[in-house]
Amino acid sequence: MDNVTFHDHKPEALSLYDAVVDGLSRKDKSIPPKFFYDERGSELFESICRQPEYYPPNVERHMLSQLAEEIASLTGTGRILVEPGVGSAGKVRLLLDVLRPAAFVPMDISFDYLKNVMKVLAGEYPWLPIHAACVDFTHSLPIPAETPSGPRLLFFPGSSLGNFHREEAGDFLGMVHDMLGSDGMLLIGVDTKKSESLLHAAYNDAAGVTAEFNLNLLHRMRRELNADLDPKVFEHKAFYNGDAGRIEMHLVSTRPQKLRVNGHCFDLEAGESIHTENSYKYTPDEFLSLAKGSGFSEVRHWVDENGLFAIYLLSTI
Ligand code: AVJ
Repeated sequence: MDNVTFHDHKPEALSLYDAVVDGLSRKDKSIPPKFFYDERGSELFESICRQPEYYPPNVERHMLSQLAEEIASLTGTGRILVEPGVGSAGKVRLLLDVLRPAAFVPMDISFDYLKNVMKVLAGEYPWLPIHAACVDFTHSLPIPAETPSGPRLLFFPGSSLGNFHREEAGDFLGMVHDMLGSDGMLLIGVDTKKSESLLHAAYNDAAGVTAEFNLNLLHRMRRELNADLDPKVFEHKAFYNGDAGRIEMHLVSTRPQKLRVNGHCFDLEAGESIHTENSYKYTPDEFLSLAKGSGFSEVRHWVDENGLFAIYLLSTI
């Protein structure tokens, strides 16, 4: 395909080794969720999105397909469309024909996965120039130099924002605001607060795919760092922390053990966990005040009929 180019920004902050050593040295052990997404992790995440309990993708897709024309009437066509954490690019396909962007800048942390997905997308949309970049969006949002100039629209679906702590989410939105410039817009999907039982089920699917996704982090440590550990003595745990307004995912050690990585040794007690993910939930009021604090103004927002998910269109001015 000659309408796609690839850029490896070799994100500095991408070292699994540094993250593991740093995260396991803490009193409350943790590893950031971006390390879930090696090629296998990206595939497992796609599989989570097909589980009936994990409602966000279906609800958001349905909303986007219903709203596409309305969104396009508010953004106009011909923008430079940027999508951090694009994954399998399933959602943006619902918008490309109506948004008719002048160029698409998909970003992902998993470069091999990004290349495979974008080669296919380029064939499906021969009119669309694609400038794909391997980027750690928690760190920076570098736009490839040859991307044409023009008003930008950042698409951030899937409640990816939920992985940031509240304060970091504000900082990230501030970084997005700077990147978008004066005539930019942000289209963002954010999971809402809802009944604990629905949230709990979404992160504890009956088929065990979310558990496998969480445990893949341990397999990845074995594959890539030669870590000496037994994934079988860890259990997936996910629960809603109502005070913090977030789902937490942990890998719980079922017995005392020593975990070795390249000369470092870490002790885990029985029941001690490695905190692997937060997924913050926002009421529309909470999200809008966060976005306004980062310089955005609301154009419009939509909540689905069951109150399960929200989509916001914001502008930088
Ligand atoms: C991709 C961060 C939005 O938090 O719901 C899904 C990741 N983790 N199931 C989420 C995830 C477990 C997902 N985000």
